Amino acid sequence: MESSTNNKQPTTLSQSASSAQGEITKVSGPLVVAGGMKDARMYDVVRVGAERLIGEIIEIRGDAASIQVYEETSGLGPGDPVYATGAPLSVELGPGLLESIYDGIQRPLNVLAARAGSTLKRGVEAPGLDPERLWEFRPAVEAGAQVSQGDIIGTVEETEVVEHRVMVPPGLSGRITEISGGAFRVADTIARLQLEDGTVRDLTMLQRWPVRMGRPYQSKRPPQEPLVTGQRVIDTFLPIVKGGTAAIPGPFGSGKTVTQHQLAKWADADIVVYVGCGERGNEMTDVLMEFPHLSDPRTGKPLMKRTVLIANTSNMPVAAREASVYTGITIAEYYRDMGYNVALMADSTSRWAEALREMSSRLEEMPGEEGYPAYLGSRLAGFYERAGSVTCLGSGDTAGSISVIGAVSPPGGDLSDPVVQATLRVVKVFWGLDAQLAYRRHFPAINWLLSYSLYVDAVRSTLPEGQSDLIDLRDEGMQILQKEAELQEIVRLVGVDALSVGERLMLETAKSLREDFLYQEAFNAVDTYASLAKQHVMLRNILLFHNLAGRAVADGVSLDRITVLPVRESIARMRYVPEDRKERLFETGAEIEASLKRLINEATALTEGV
Ligand SMILES: Nc1ncnc2c1ncn2[C@@H]1O[C@H](COP(=O)(O)OP(=O)(O)O)[C@@H](O)[C@H]1O
Ligand SMILES: [Mg+2]
Repeated sequence: MESSTNNKQPTTLSQSASSAQGEITKVSGPLVVAGGMKDARMYDVVRVGAERLIGEIIEIRGDAASIQVYEETSGLGPGDPVYATGAPLSVELGPGLLESIYDGIQRPLNVLAARAGSTLKRGVEAPGLDPERLWEFRPAVEAGAQVSQGDIIGTVEETEVVEHRVMVPPGLSGRITEISGGAFRVADTIARLQLEDGTVRDLTMLQRWPVRMGRPYQSKRPPQEPLVTGQRVIDTFLPIVKGGTAAIPGPFGSGKTVTQHQLAKWADADIVVYVGCGERGNEMTDVLMEFPHLSDPRTGKPLMKRTVLIANTSNMPVAAREASVYTGITIAEYYRDMGYNVALMADSTSRWAEALREMSSRLEEMPGEEGYPAYLGSRLAGFYERAGSVTCLGSGDTAGSISVIGAVSPPGGDLSDPVVQATLRVVKVFWGLDAQLAYRRHFPAINWLLSYSLYVDAVRSTLPEGQSDLIDLRDEGMQILQKEAELQEIVRLVGVDALSVGERLMLETAKSLREDFLYQEAFNAVDTYASLAKQHVMLRNILLFHNLAGRAVADGVSLDRITVLPVRESIARMRYVPEDRKERLFETGAEIEASLKRLINEATALTEGV
């Protein structure tokens, strides 16, 4: 466990650098090289030039340091000073994270905008948490209590929907000598902790943590419980679990962003961290406009009440995108440590990888595939490894999780792209978006044949009572869909007449699975979300129809009579049945049974009559 980092006391950006350390020798876009940096450490934050732009050391050779600068570098030149801060890039963790909208290095966008007009001024310092805001702290332990790292010593109502749990910082344990409730600022002392060696430490509601280092936990747990998203193709066919990892690769316009938004809104996570790396110029603006207005279906309150948004608009410097995914996951870890289930979406990780590529090429490193650095794969793996289901620090046996869902946008949707390939090596779920499906307006355009989930068996064993055979039904449906692809090939070669009636029924059912189940309208108020119970009965009905229809054709009923049954219309309308009227779907089941049995009885009566 990396508790040693605590001794280092990382500073935040708002703590100004003191004396000049080095001098710029070269400026290359967002990369600045400085000499005279012999005391510098990798990943330390420095301030660059008279405007004290924020930068981070990413390479050291002798006394020369290469610095990636998180702001526009125009106007900088050789001879300009570089100031050390002696601390790694860190975030502020405490109440006030939720509802915030940050840039890639945790500067609140509203503070930046207020201070600098609508365009970002350079060198602006803005603390991640409002230092003046008062929070009502309610102690959870009394003076005299023995506590250790990760223990919850009190709570704050951070928003109407989330209780913030104030924890003993990693690396500390001892006896609480003083603790008091009341209104405090994040950096005020709320308790005193006497360590084993007798020294007394002031505890506040604020923790600082270096973003490139995962926060500690007791142990990883095998993730198993489904993360229910309300999206049928996901939950039933390609499920993800709490603590799981998934990638959504797809070409431009195939639905990556809509899918990420659906997950942010509907996944049964307590906390959402949304990292947006703008693809198109106005795309993040859309997110910034939309998110604050999204309402949370679970609470009826704004979704932002349990969301942290990190926004890199495409006019922000490339290096800030590189940092933003780390800022995001560190915040996610902090809520995980409180025992919450967190979902982190990153849209799109390709923009992050491109930032890596740009910095690498300016460092004149040996390029790998498509110019990406050779360490692309290990960086991606290092990021996704911070997902997972864990037993938190602290004396309770508390579980917390982070699920990470990354969109990938390869040029032309080409899945052989290095970022896609490196991502697929580490994630356990692949939701491949398909340009053809999107073109035919089949949404979500997740290709069910190409995609996979390695959590299918974990989910199979942890489904709730009433839906325990959902994955078995899914297997049956998947076989029909796979068979459809084979049959379509035959039809293409020799025509539909070559198929047996059973095979033609198979095609009918596959069509029903696609149109009545997999297809789901994100923008329809009812269809946008389906509970597991609703998904279960929908799929059960479609397969019930299939199996009874199979018996009917075996008994000599013509397929034409089956396909025109009025109950087909009820099947097509199942999606629009609201959650609170789900019982109707059982009536549809009864209707399916009745109408097919009628056909079967007619047919058998006929044969008996002969
Ligand atoms: N689940 C969905 N339901 C309805 N329409 C969708 C869905 N997913 C995508 N779309 C349509 O596709 C368009 C492009 O989707 P978007 O998520 O912006 O693509 P990408 O992020 O992959 O470029 C959306 O504006 C919307 O019209
Ligand atoms: Mg998009």
